[in-house]
Amino acid sequence: MKRFTIGLLPGDGIGAEVTAEAVRALSTVGELFGYRFEMTEHSIGATAFARFGEPFPPDTRAAVTQADAVLLGAVGDPALDRAPRHQRPEAGLLALRKLLKVYANLRPVAVHPALAHASPLRPERLTGVDLLIVRELTGGLYYGEPRGRDESSAVNTLRYTTVEVERVARVAFDAARLRRKRVTSVDKANVLEVSQLWRDVVTRVGAEYPDIVLEHLYVDFAAMRLVSEPASLDVLVTENLFGDILSDEAAVLAGSLGLLPSASLGDGPGLFEPVHGSAPDIAGKGIANPVGAIASAAMLLRHGLGLDEAADLVDRAVRGVLDAGVRTRDLARPGEPAVGTREFGDRVVQLLAAPAAVRA
Ligand code: NAD
Ligand code: IPM
Ligand code: MN
Repeated sequence: MKRFTIGLLPGDGIGAEVTAEAVRALSTVGELFGYRFEMTEHSIGATAFARFGEPFPPDTRAAVTQADAVLLGAVGDPALDRAPRHQRPEAGLLALRKLLKVYANLRPVAVHPALAHASPLRPERLTGVDLLIVRELTGGLYYGEPRGRDESSAVNTLRYTTVEVERVARVAFDAARLRRKRVTSVDKANVLEVSQLWRDVVTRVGAEYPDIVLEHLYVDFAAMRLVSEPASLDVLVTENLFGDILSDEAAVLAGSLGLLPSASLGDGPGLFEPVHGSAPDIAGKGIANPVGAIASAAMLLRHGLGLDEAADLVDRAVRGVLDAGVRTRDLARPGEPAVGTREFGDRVVQLLAAPAAVRA
């Protein structure tokens, strides 16, 4: 029996609720395929701060570096919004990404035909939308030094090196080869030196991929293209902060932020987490959409463990449940009944456990 160690970091708010459903899906496919997933749970974020006085405690640090892959829910707690930076839940997540050196964050966005109504965009604009945002994840303003603030001013530093841009660009071009062979690089090269370097390096890497069509867009226009002509985009590669902003915008195409998964990859264990946050407004109610988390588990199987067949099965089960008209509250039409997080997870597990229905 093949064994894999998965570090489980449910985190805060709805993080624990959606991760529980992803874990059930993983356990079910594990049994089906005869894989042994050893999942050990560790604290991160506000939950870790409450228990250990820090958002990324040593036990969690040790566990994630030894795991084959890491599955995270979400971090964030409004009660800590004014806390010193190193105590904030977000600092735990940023330290985790840095520790694992997961510099490429893959955020796929597809429109499920049955969910087109959930987007405020006209259905005809959504036809054929299938894009992959490749967000640089361990550099840029999030990590640049110097940083800080005093009474009357504050500073953050935007710095990228050639190596940082090259390696994430390669991830984007390699991904495009398996898709529609288009890369859109997003920057602000009309204003920022960092973006000029970004554009030059991406162009140079692009020359090694003559089969891929490369275009460069300024981030303001890219934000517009994302909603005006989303189907024209295939792989979109950009720096850390632009990628954060554009991926929440892209969630509007899919119909809910709760649907989007992500994979963060480097040279060691990968980190897999939904794009959404801890959603304090709905936490504890059992109504969060677990699709982003379950689809992140599928990305963990595919990109983290190389178990493509198991990943396909999970993806197909999620699609099957949505095809059957099962909706969490974020996706239900007005007046349409909605299921809770757990019940949606039940339906996924049921389909997984009846694989003939899913494999067909
Ligand atoms: P959020 O993603 O938590 O929520 C934004 C909106 O989307 C809310 O209305 C929420 O109810 C809804 N939503 C999010 N996930 C959903 C789901 N699965 N099902 C249904 N609805 C869902 O973003 P926010 O409100 O800006 O931030 C809340 C906290 O989360 C902050 O502390 C922030 O720093 C943190 N955050 C963490 C991550 C992460 O851990 N990766 C990502 C984003 C935000
Ligand atoms: C995300 C989140 C994080 C980010 C925050 C919580 C640090 O918004 O994963 O998209 O900005 O990367
Ligand atoms: Mn974000």
